[in-house]
Amino acid sequence: MDGFTHRAGQLYCEEVPLTLLAERYGTPLYVYSRSALLNRLKELQEAFAPASPLICYSVKANSNLSILRLLGKAGAGFDIVSGGELFRALNAGADPSKIVFAGVGKSPREIAAAIRAGIRMFNAESEAELQAADAAAKALHCRATVALRINPDVDARTHAKTTTGRKDNKFGIALPHAREIFARHGRYPNLDITGIHLHLGSPIYTVEPYRKALEKMRSFVAEVRGTGAQLRTINMGGGYCISYEGQKVIAPRDYARAILPAVRQMGLGLIIEPGRFIVGNSALLLGRVTYVKEGWLGRKFVILDAGMNDLMRPALYGSYHQIWPVRGPAAPILGGRARKGARLETVDIVGPICETTDCFARERRIPRMRAGELVALFSTGAYGMSMSSSYNSRPRAAEVLVSGGRARVIRKRETYDDLTRGE
Ligand SMILES: Cc1ncc(COP(=O)(O)O)c(C=O)c1O
Repeated sequence: MDGFTHRAGQLYCEEVPLTLLAERYGTPLYVYSRSALLNRLKELQEAFAPASPLICYSVKANSNLSILRLLGKAGAGFDIVSGGELFRALNAGADPSKIVFAGVGKSPREIAAAIRAGIRMFNAESEAELQAADAAAKALHCRATVALRINPDVDARTHAKTTTGRKDNKFGIALPHAREIFARHGRYPNLDITGIHLHLGSPIYTVEPYRKALEKMRSFVAEVRGTGAQLRTINMGGGYCISYEGQKVIAPRDYARAILPAVRQMGLGLIIEPGRFIVGNSALLLGRVTYVKEGWLGRKFVILDAGMNDLMRPALYGSYHQIWPVRGPAAPILGGRARKGARLETVDIVGPICETTDCFARERRIPRMRAGELVALFSTGAYGMSMSSSYNSRPRAAEVLVSGGRARVIRKRETYDDLTRGE
């Protein structure tokens, strides 16, 4: 958790105590560290530098305009999956020639908008989509560049709901079919099909899936070139992991060591699409305990003002987020160890939403918490705010970006009027 420290018995984001942010902006509140965001991007840029890659930040991980603007200025391109994400990226000043567009269901209208904007490349996921892209390019009297997203049937050994490169997943084009498409590449006169794209899943905690997929790609690329197809780029997708529990995990240089030699051997340019790695540990969700109650058989519930509408990952995937009071001993993820004799207790940490699945942690050992205390939900920068909703008619949380001693609201808290706008 770069950018977050524990000092004098309380939690800080850069130079600002979280207690001050809660007082000023209320809770639930997403808090981002600017330096952490930039450092994480830099770590990737340095690790992959020998290949001079295009690093396309995956907008779905967190699509806040200020974050996109910050990363774009620091050299990132963008990986988008919808017309809405295209709109956001352009709005944030993105260079269209650094935008790649993935997703299994891009509509003809979205495809046309992206061609008009002059994006670098589509990652096409079906023959039907190639036809749609070809037709859109023809209608606009221009050419579109395409990479085929290949389903290599490699198990990323991650959560069943976030694995994307296996035979039974909806993503990508099956390898034999991709071979056929390249063999008759002249069939789409308005497309330049010059790349291959892989995204195996997320998060991926070992380099093996990348190695396996690249091994398959090596023979595939040789075969495809044999048919006269011009291959120039390989996009290795995202999936680079972060530490959610404070455990040691592999780093960008480990991924680079596994990926770069094969890419060099194939003589291809490299694109990567990291999302989680950049934003995941650069933010936390700040909440407040509303009530503490006891249930049957002494079961204790700590009820927060943040719910699954603010942070959906635990409800959706059973994901782990470390949750710890803002004041008191340091959180383990920040290197803290509960002092001997510290009063830890076993509780369920839940939100206020009328769903049993609105539970952030079950039977978790944390320091004793009382109503009114502030609590941090760590590692929530990726797939946190971007997956949030107003379910139970709860206005969405605010977001602040901290830089040194300054904090700036980068998304206002929604109001009740926002809830009914458009109805
Ligand atoms: C095509 C594609 N690229 C990149 C990503 C980003 O993955 P991560 O946030 O794990 O880096 C995703 C995530 O789902 C994706 O679907």
